Amino acid sequence: VVLVREAREEEAEAIADMLCRSIRDLCAADHGGDEEMIAAWSANKTAENVCKWIAAPGIMLTALAPDGGVAGAGAAAPDGTVLLNYVAPEMRFSGVSTALLLELERWLLKSGCPEVRLESTRTALAFYLARGYEKNGPAVPWRKSTAQPLRKRLAP
Ligand SMILES: CC(C)(COP(=O)(O)OP(=O)(O)OC[C@H]1O[C@@H](n2cnc3c(N)ncnc32)[C@H](O)[C@@H]1OP(=O)(O)O)[C@@H](O)C(=O)NCCC(=O)NCCS
Repeated sequence: VVLVREAREEEAEAIADMLCRSIRDLCAADHGGDEEMIAAWSANKTAENVCKWIAAPGIMLTALAPDGGVAGAGAAAPDGTVLLNYVAPEMRFSGVSTALLLELERWLLKSGCPEVRLESTRTALAFYLARGYEKNGPAVPWRKSTAQPLRKRLAP
């Protein structure tokens, strides 16, 4: 069971740490263990930047594990773009990303976005396709890999 709520500034350090561990441990399908790519991908995942993302327009959410630790984080911009959706490695496959995505979609719909868009990692592609997302054009070059633009209609 996870609780999802708006992210708090005092969690920024724990969120940044979780983001870097998620990238390193879960996203090998994208970085293939390439230390240079892991470093570049993780470079902006700092507590300072997390504080900026929390304060930015849009929404940033924290998923909390039963012990109160940071289990995941997600963010979306007011234009309907999902910017982040990461789970702590030890919490993978326990519903965290699903819960975060549902809350982001709910917030976007409430904010008047009829459609949500994102660029999926290779790691997360099957996850999004199983949740109603469809390809929105061909994969695009992204770092040393590719990302897949996806979209999902939220409102008719
Ligand atoms: C893939 C990923 C996004 C799934 O998040 P999660 O929080 O572990 O997933 P949830 O528990 O909410 O959802 C379960 C989904 O995980 C996948 N899954 C579950 N068990 C699995 C297993 N044993 N092996 C492989 N995939 C499995 C399935 O897609 C499953 O969906 P389903 O219920 O439709 O079958 C996540 O594990 C991940 O690797 N994130 C890395 C960060 C990332 O790439 N973020 C995306 C940036 S756009």
